[in-house]
Amino acid sequence: MTDARIPVSGPWITEREVQYVADATRSAWYSKHHVYHDKFERAFAEYLGVKHTIALPSCTSAIHLALAALGVGAGDEVIVPDVTWIASAAPVTYLGGTTVFADIDALNWCIDPASVEALLTPRTRAIIAVELYGSMPDWDALRDLSVRYEIPIIEDAAEAIGSRYRNRPAGSFGQVSVFSFHGSKTLTTGEGGLLATDDTALFQRAQVLRDHGRPMGDRYFRNTEVAFKYKMSSMQAALGLAQLKQIDKLVARKREIFG
Ligand SMILES: Cc1ncc(COP(=O)(O)O)c(C=O)c1O
Repeated sequence: MTDARIPVSGPWITEREVQYVADATRSAWYSKHHVYHDKFERAFAEYLGVKHTIALPSCTSAIHLALAALGVGAGDEVIVPDVTWIASAAPVTYLGGTTVFADIDALNWCIDPASVEALLTPRTRAIIAVELYGSMPDWDALRDLSVRYEIPIIEDAAEAIGSRYRNRPAGSFGQVSVFSFHGSKTLTTGEGGLLATDDTALFQRAQVLRDHGRPMGDRYFRNTEVAFKYKMSSMQAALGLAQLKQIDKLVARKREIFG
């Protein structure tokens, strides 16, 4: 008998990660403070095949921001799977909305489209589809619902980087999608998250909301509303960029451990 354990997760840090973080520590200040964010956000958008990404302090903040950018507020209902991490649901409550819990599908452990459809009401403002443990929901049925009822889907891909459905990557299905880079995730920045979307208006709204309500490009600190401060540091963005360069290896290793 052995007590040797196989961790299901954990960081894989190479010399590149160490070098990028050291470089950010030395150089990413003043006019270069955003260099690593720009590189990481662009590389992640290319990896997903989406137009816009925003690097954030956590996936929880990304979900909060996505809901706020969609206009979810008091009196609104948001449908969430009844098996997930609390972070998929808690931000609905931050905004005064009501979480409505849908069943999961016994096969993929992700939200069941039939259960979602049965729970829709005139107050439903959004659906959060979680890709639990990197498993993929029935995106054909969910996207069909989203179009038919004109209700946006937030794709919670916190655990799903590297997963695919009909050969498209996790994070490219929702109107807005979110990732986690917590230390337990396949790609880590220590703590961290990201929001991705093809919707330019939503992206611009999220940029204002995550910067204390400052219009994009404002240089005079004229905040036009009370909002949030959700930013990743350069050191984290540098770590994320280095991790993304070896993402195929990280995903392959995860699959190997699962096997
Ligand atoms: C499905 C799911 N959603 C959201 C989160 C929240 O991520 P974070 O810890 O980066 O806020 C997690 C993190 O474990 C998660 O597993």
